[in-house]
Amino acid sequence: MSNSVTSNFEVIKAKTSRINQVDFDNLGFGKYYTDHMLVCDYQNGSWGMPKIMPYQPISLEPSAKIFHYGQSIFEGMKGYKDKDGNILLFRPIDNCKRFNISAKRLAIPEIPEEYFMEGLKTLMQIDGDWIPTDNGSSLYIRPFMFATGEGFHASPADKYKFIIALSPSGPYFSGKVKVLIEEKYSRAANGGVGYAKAGGNYAGQFYPTQLAIDKGYNQVIWTDDTSHEYIEEAGAMNIFIRINDTLLTAPTSDRILDGITRKSIIEIAKDMNIPVEVRRIKVSEVVDAAKNGTLTEMFGAGTAAVISPISGFGYRDQDYDLPILKDNYATVLKKRITDIQTNKANDPYGWRVQV
Ligand SMILES: Cc1ncc(COP(=O)(O)O)c(C=O)c1O
Repeated sequence: MSNSVTSNFEVIKAKTSRINQVDFDNLGFGKYYTDHMLVCDYQNGSWGMPKIMPYQPISLEPSAKIFHYGQSIFEGMKGYKDKDGNILLFRPIDNCKRFNISAKRLAIPEIPEEYFMEGLKTLMQIDGDWIPTDNGSSLYIRPFMFATGEGFHASPADKYKFIIALSPSGPYFSGKVKVLIEEKYSRAANGGVGYAKAGGNYAGQFYPTQLAIDKGYNQVIWTDDTSHEYIEEAGAMNIFIRINDTLLTAPTSDRILDGITRKSIIEIAKDMNIPVEVRRIKVSEVVDAAKNGTLTEMFGAGTAAVISPISGFGYRDQDYDLPILKDNYATVLKKRITDIQTNKANDPYGWRVQV
């Protein structure tokens, strides 16, 4: 292995690239990993220097606290290449800030912003050849951080690892998405960790989601944990609901992730003169709208799919189908946001960051 130093970080380059082993025409989502990863270790009360090294397994003690107490957080973001070969990120500083909000809630030491940002940019440059350019494809970026410190005592660890891994991914096609409005299980609770991207939040969703799948649905719509009367999120995405011409989305709270796609859509929609209301949405309001024909669209919003249209929902043993609108907001908004992300359109918001 050859050693060199880029932007103050140690870089250990892979001897050979695995890029030729990857079928870029059949990438799927999050299945392949690039040649390198960024690793940074926390011990003795501070973060060491980030290091870029070949993507490889890591070894941990069985007593590492991640296995016992779930101190683990992550982010999800995407990198693109425009037609001139420029490497682009979308609102990366927002991911970095949210990562540290998650870290704080899980009692994990925050990562210095420049380690995250400069580390990510350096890694993207090194593995730039892995960024797919086909329409809808991107380099999925997974920063994550977890407790490596040992001990069975239920208390925060004294050692942590921060890693960024990259995965060339194809378009996230979810097909026809039929959702079930959930009234028994909750994704998050007041005072809990729902607003953080904590690994355990997702583990807790798997079982109720499987129950919904067994009933013939694809995803769960989460309602508030106390009354189950209000709609909050769509699986691991924020939710948008169109009644007549107004686009509704729930306000962020302890229980809802402050999605970067969600807040971008709110801004873009307003600029396109689409009426947007950020307010609590009653399940009964949506059911009534479905019955009287004023419910015209529902979609999930998140980094992976950008926008994932919902074709119908189930509620209390009754199924409701949504119409297929020709001029739907989902298509228009998805095009606008992906055009900005991939430099096919001007970015009046300053969201696009060139690496
Ligand atoms: C629970 C949850 N809600 C919403 C989102 C959407 O957030 P973003 O648009 O920042 O990807 C995600 C995905 O990251 C999520 O995990």
